[in-house]
This record gives sequence, structure tokens and C-alpha cells, in this order.
Amino acid sequence: MSINARQETLSFQTEVKQLLNIVIHSLYSNKEIFLRELVSNASDAADKLRFEALSDPALYEADSNLKIQVSFDAKAKTITINDNGIGMSRDEVVENLGTIAKSGTREFLSRLTGDQKKDAHLIGQFGVGFYSAFIIADKVTVQTRRAGLTAQHGVRWESNGEGEYSIANIEKATRGTEVTLHLKEGEDEFLNDWRLRSIITKYSDHISLPIQMHPLETADKKPAATEWEAVNKATALWTLPKSSITDEQYKEQYKHIAHDFEDPLVWAHNQVEGGSLDYISLLYIPAHAPFDLFQRERSHGLKLYVQRVFIMDQVQQFMPMYLRFVRGILDTNALPLNISREILQDNPVIPKLRGALVKRVLDMLDKLAKDEPEKYAKFWEQFGKVLKEGPAEDFANRARIAKLIRFSSTHTDVPLQTISLDDYITRMKPGQKKIYYITAESFNAAKSSPHLEIFRKNNIEVLLLSDQIDEWFVAHLSEYEGKGLQSVAKGDVNLDEIVVETPSQKEEQKKQEEQVKTEFDTVIKKIKTILNDQVKEVRISHRLTSSPSCLVTDDQDMGLQLQRLLKAAGQSVAEVKPIFELNPTHPLVIKLKALSNEEDFKEWTQLLFDQAILSEGAQLKDPAAFVQRVNKLLLK
Ligand SMILES: Nc1ncnc2c1ncn2[C@@H]1O[C@H](COP(=O)(O)OP(=O)(O)OP(=O)(O)O)[C@@H](O)[C@H]1O
Ligand SMILES: [Mg+2]
Repeated sequence: MSINARQETLSFQTEVKQLLNIVIHSLYSNKEIFLRELVSNASDAADKLRFEALSDPALYEADSNLKIQVSFDAKAKTITINDNGIGMSRDEVVENLGTIAKSGTREFLSRLTGDQKKDAHLIGQFGVGFYSAFIIADKVTVQTRRAGLTAQHGVRWESNGEGEYSIANIEKATRGTEVTLHLKEGEDEFLNDWRLRSIITKYSDHISLPIQMHPLETADKKPAATEWEAVNKATALWTLPKSSITDEQYKEQYKHIAHDFEDPLVWAHNQVEGGSLDYISLLYIPAHAPFDLFQRERSHGLKLYVQRVFIMDQVQQFMPMYLRFVRGILDTNALPLNISREILQDNPVIPKLRGALVKRVLDMLDKLAKDEPEKYAKFWEQFGKVLKEGPAEDFANRARIAKLIRFSSTHTDVPLQTISLDDYITRMKPGQKKIYYITAESFNAAKSSPHLEIFRKNNIEVLLLSDQIDEWFVAHLSEYEGKGLQSVAKGDVNLDEIVVETPSQKEEQKKQEEQVKTEFDTVIKKIKTILNDQVKEVRISHRLTSSPSCLVTDDQDMGLQLQRLLKAAGQSVAEVKPIFELNPTHPLVIKLKALSNEEDFKEWTQLLFDQAILSEGAQLKDPAAFVQRVNKLLLK
């Protein structure tokens, strides 16, 4: 086959152009990271080759000694990073270097503010990769050939990082990728042996294949162009004894695998060898949630190695969804080398490994909560909502997960979620058997809910739940440490056990209640007739002290907030009618009782009912009618 040079000039995808601009400007103060990014890509390329070669050893083309070589030419002002990894075909070059395939790219770009500092932080979460070359280069040349294709299938890609790039077919004898940076004016500091070596050891020491440079020139010896020596340690970091690894190395390892620019919040490194389940895990929790944490199609999962050989990225089987923020490495001897994504589904070892890893993460979080509460608060702020998915997804671990959850409550009355169920239990009243909570649309709706009145009066703490996931969470956690979770908006409240009273006081109270009940009997019946199909029941309330009315549901019925959430999510929900409760001591209710005009009675009843709906944070079916009614009554 003859070489068809097929030189073309193509434009970058719009997103690439935008990103290039931002990268060059906001990361300029941190220029040396270009080398980390390019080395990281070369290392990924070697991993990919190793994996493909498991089923097709011919891809090695008799050269299985994978490495990365970094060199520079002071005269030409170039730096070259060369690898013998998987390489790219022409189509792959166009796809990988001309477009950004990440999901959510558009949304990501729309969040950039133009404020360099903030943008740099966001870019860190997104990953800039290859384009960081343009921070210091005004021209980048990539020559590459995919493993397995013939020498004629080499490709040259070139761009000055503005709007376009050129692409041409070339002949390339060796497989892999060579990236040459033509440095901008004023970037000569990088044309220096020591400088490059120190960047490599700073950022890439943990890379498991050798990163080579020419030996240093000495007074009596000028090394030949074919001489190379490794600059990094080149052993897989996670296989080293924990005591020999520095925090810096752990952090750089994280940045490489998580494609993050920021240090991780915490990590846990475990080497379990010799047992029935051989594995090494190195698990990290990022300091910040990725911008697409709640996007369903978002990729997550661990990097899987079998006997030190890289197998796959983003293997989701080892982490449940509620721990999807965890990044890291699993290296195990318990799986066969030829494992594929499909086989991974039903290998019996997987659930065991998964169980062990989940335990590792929960242990790590426990420890963080205990030893470093400030860091734990940061974790909670970033990932708390995700962890709350836990009890529904992982029934077996629900008690351990529940221990890690943090809430707002009437104890602090602020939105910040800092209270654990254990904290709550220490403040429970003598005789209190249940953990009380309320769910609402927003923190304010929860905090000011009429359902809390009797609890506030008696100084009984109530958890204030207002995250969307909370309804789901409490639906799957019926108890904690033997104490049932009870919604204050469900069922009848009976605080007799807690609000200690002498038997005679109790007797007295009962008598009073009976009396009120008889007094209001006709009124309640009348209201029931008026509201008819809008309510399940009308009754005298034992939970209100300052509001005239509220809505509750029966213990076994679905809560009103959950009904609203499901409806908003487009699900059909069998309507459960609320129970309408009235406060017999409230002046409005007393006034209602005294009304003799039937028409007025009707108006007042509907008004009190609508008010109860509104204080739930819910919407009225006919808001205009409500306004008219209020106006009419105001003018009376
Ligand atoms: N040395 C290389 N060998 C083979 N393919 C490469 C090489 N460098 C880059 N690529 C390809 O180009 C793509 C884009 O690289 P880039 O570094 O921008 O993104 P990434 O590595 O996928 O993610 P990140 O932005 O987190 O670095 C890579 O996914 C890979 O497919
Ligand atoms: Mg990259």
C-alpha cells in the first residue's frame, strides 16, 4: 500500500476552542502540569495496550518493554514525550484530539465565569489533559501509530492551539505516540534537565512504568543519544509497603487516576494478602464533588488491576451507587486475567470483593467522622446527599450508613447538617422511645411547620429533613439503635410517656380532652360534611399550640411530602386524603365554632383548610379563590 499523505486542515469542535482558551489563561500560573498530563496520557496508553494484548499478544510487535521517554532540544526549543503504548489511528486522532467526548461538557463550559481562580478550580474537576500542552507551546506536533497497524498507517497531527489543526498520514516504524512541544517565547526554563527531572519526580513518581530521560552529561562523559535511564521509581505505588509511601505520593497517585487537580480529602490503603480473598485497595474520597455527580450516565468506579496488570477503568461493580464518589484502585489475584466487562457481571468473587471494599469505605468515613470532624463536615457538604441513598440500596449496611448521616434539627435550628442520630439519642427525653422527624419542601418550611409546635413546647428535638432524597431515606430506615423513626406529621401524637405527669394530672387531662371532644363534636361533623371529599378525617389536634390547623396522614399512609415528590417526578400516585386537625384553643377555631351563619361557617372552614395546605409548603388547587375568600373575610 502506498502512503496516501491526505493532508487536511480541520477545525476544532467549538467546545475545544473554548476550553483551550480557558486552559491557557487560567492555568498559566501552574504551567508545569503540562508534563504530568502528557505523562499521564502516555501511561494510560500503555495500560490500554497491556489490556488489549492480553487477548492479542501480537500487538506488542516484539517489544513488550513499555516505557515513556522525555527529551528536549535546547536549540530547536522543543520538548518531546514519546511512548510505545496503544497509539492512535487517524480516526482516533480526530476523535480524541479534535473533540471533547466527555458527557456534560457543554454544561461544564456554561458554568465558567471568566474569573480565572474559580475557573481553574472547575477545570481541575473537569480535567484538561492533552490541551495543557498549549500553556507553554505555540505549536504541538503529535506523531502516532496504533498498535497492530502497519508502518504506513502513521498519523501526524499539528496545531498552534488556535482554531484549527492539520492532519496527515505518515510512515511511522514504531507504534505509540510522540508529542513534541514547540515552546513559546520565554518558556526556556523547561529546556533544562534538572527542571524536567524534578517535575517528573514531583508529579509522576507513582507511575508504574519507567519514565526515562537521557543520563545527565558529566565533565568526562557525554551520553549517547541511545542511552536512557529511569527517572521515577516505576513500581506500582499500591504494591509498596505503606510505611514507604509519602502523603505526596498518595496525592499524586490520586490525581492521576481521578483526573483531578486537587488533593483528595482522605484515602485508605489496604493490602489483604494470604487469605481467601487476595486484594490491594487504594481508595480515595475527593475534596470536591464532580460537577456531574447527579447525572445518571456519569462514569464512575474503580481502576481494576489483576496481578498488577491493568484491566479496566471505571469498573462499577465494586462500588454501590451511593458510594459513587469514591475513586481508586483495586488490584486482585482473585480474578482471572482474561476477565471482561461481561464476565465481570456474574463472577462469584465480585460480590465478596464489593462487600470488602464497601466496608473499607465505611470504616474510612467512620474514622474521619471520629478523628477529624472538620474534614468530615467538608465531606458531608459535598457528598452527604449521595450517602443518604445508602439505606435504600444497601440494606445490610443500613445501620452503619445511618450512623454517618448528618441532619439539621430543632436543637440548632440552622440549615447546616451537623447532627448525627447518636447525638440525637443522647438528648432524648426520659421515656422517649422514638426519633422524631419532619420532611418538608425546604428547610424553612420544615423549621416553621405547625407540626412541631407541641414538640417545641415540650423541648423534644425533631430532625428537620428537607433534601429531596430524605423521603426516600426515611422510607428505608424504619429504626436506628432500636428506636423507631417517627414522622411528626403522621398519625396521632401521644407524648404522655415523655411529658411526665402524675397519675392525677393525667386523669385531669383526659377528662379535659373528653370535654373538648364533646364540645366540638357537632362542629367537627359539620366541617367533615363541608370538606367532604377533600379529607379523610377531621379531628381535634394534640400537636398544635399556636396555629389554628394542620394536615397529617395516617401512620400507614404515604406522607404528603412524598406524594408531592412522586407527582413532581411524573409518577402516578393513588391519592391519599389528609386528616384535617384543628386546634381547639385557637381564637379562629373558637370563632368558627361560634358562627351561626351557615355561609360564613363554610367560608371559614375552607379558609382554615387552605391555610393548612399552605403551611405544608404545598400549592392550592385554586389560589385565586383563596385570595377572594381572604379579601371577603377581611372586609367583613
Ligand atoms: N499518548 C497517547 N497515546 C494514545 N492516546 C492518547 C495519548 N494522549 C492522548 N490520547 C488520547 O486522547 C484523549 C484525550 O486526552 P486528554 O488527556 O485530553 O483526556 P483524557 O486523558 O481522556 O482525560 P483527562 O482530561 O482527565 O486527562 C485520550 O482519552 C486518549 O484517547
Ligand atoms: Mg489525559
